[in-house]
Amino acid sequence: MKRRLENILVAGGAGFIGSNFIHYVFKNTDFKGKIINVDKLTYAGNLENLVEIKSKYGGKRYFFEKADICDFDEIKRIFKKYDIDTVVNFAAESHVDRSIYGPKDFVNTNIIGTFTLLEVARENWEGRRDVLFHHISTDEVYGSVEEGGYFCEDTAYRPNSPYSASKASSDHLVRAYHKTYSLPATISNCSNNYGPYQFPEKLIPLMILNILEEKSLPVYGDGRNIRDWLYVDDHCSAIWKILKEGKTGDTYNIGGDNELENIKLVNMLCEMIAQIKGKEEKYYKKLITFVKDRPGHDRRYAINCNKIKRELNWKQKYNFRDGLNKTVNWYMNNQTWVNRVRSGEYKNWIIINYNNR
Ligand code: NAD
Ligand code: TYD
Repeated sequence: MKRRLENILVAGGAGFIGSNFIHYVFKNTDFKGKIINVDKLTYAGNLENLVEIKSKYGGKRYFFEKADICDFDEIKRIFKKYDIDTVVNFAAESHVDRSIYGPKDFVNTNIIGTFTLLEVARENWEGRRDVLFHHISTDEVYGSVEEGGYFCEDTAYRPNSPYSASKASSDHLVRAYHKTYSLPATISNCSNNYGPYQFPEKLIPLMILNILEEKSLPVYGDGRNIRDWLYVDDHCSAIWKILKEGKTGDTYNIGGDNELENIKLVNMLCEMIAQIKGKEEKYYKKLITFVKDRPGHDRRYAINCNKIKRELNWKQKYNFRDGLNKTVNWYMNNQTWVNRVRSGEYKNWIIINYNNR
């Protein structure tokens, strides 16, 4: 049966990937329906990411509801109000370091929040086949993989951080709701994303800004941990393919075929910015500082995403150097955004500019 895909509840749409996804859908697809962005606006949620979308589609095809995904009554109200037929769940606490120092919010939002969305979907969608609950997850649920190995969709889950454990738990709940209650659901597990609007606590934006400000560049441990990097728009195009054509009940791995040691990536950023600024590479490279390792630090993530390429004909558009260049330029050209998200000032900005709608 064809999916209705008219009224999409995007949970966590004010965050990094969620806001890029909303831009992507309005700009790059044939979507004619409505997007309802449901976000609690934690430190990582920023409506400024969506100013353009709000001014073009606000009140017609784009709506914002400030709500916590753990709040059953609120989610129920939103489902009814907008006749939701699709959920894309980005809402999460997403930073591994924060999960180490304070796992509670991760358990609440990532597990209880996903459970709440699932319960409301189950209640509203009884017997329907034209609906879909798509859950956004991470390759970190698979744990660390030795050189030569790759995560496949059937790789056993071995999460090592409170963040990945909470994501693994939410993935299992989604799977269980599909198997037990026949809730139409799909899951995607993606590698590390980078691009515009990423909160500057994650490796790439943090390093870009520290280089620009000539601050020290903290590399954890020996810097030889490996991550696979994907430009955020390529993640969004994969999600859109799954919403349209993904097989109900299936999981899809998404990745960039682009493994890199952290230290190499930091060196690349120093070189790229040195070139833009007309400085010698060593001017920035001398800022690199090896610091105490993250506890439980996964050594290597590497993902096999042949399934989505083969079955849904997805492929990435951006090569790493181009994507990184775009990202560096975006951060250089959006200093006001950077200052606001760092200062928390954007919360006041919301009160002044957004709530007066
Ligand atoms: P983010 O931290 O930038 O954004 C998370 C968003 O969720 C924010 O807007 C925040 O306000 C909102 N949120 C948090 N708690 C909420 C709650 N209780 N109720 C409603 N909204 C809430 O995260 P991101 O990097 O955009 O990641 C989005 C999703 O993608 C997450 O589920 C994450 O696990 C997954 N993921 C991220 C990456 C990555 O590299 N960033 C890679 C793979 C998967
Ligand atoms: P991060 O962006 O936090 O993503 P994740 O831990 O979810 O993969 O970190 C990416 C890699 O960079 C990870 O191996 C940890 C490392 N890292 C540093 O070396 N220094 C830093 O300041 C940060 C934030 C991360």
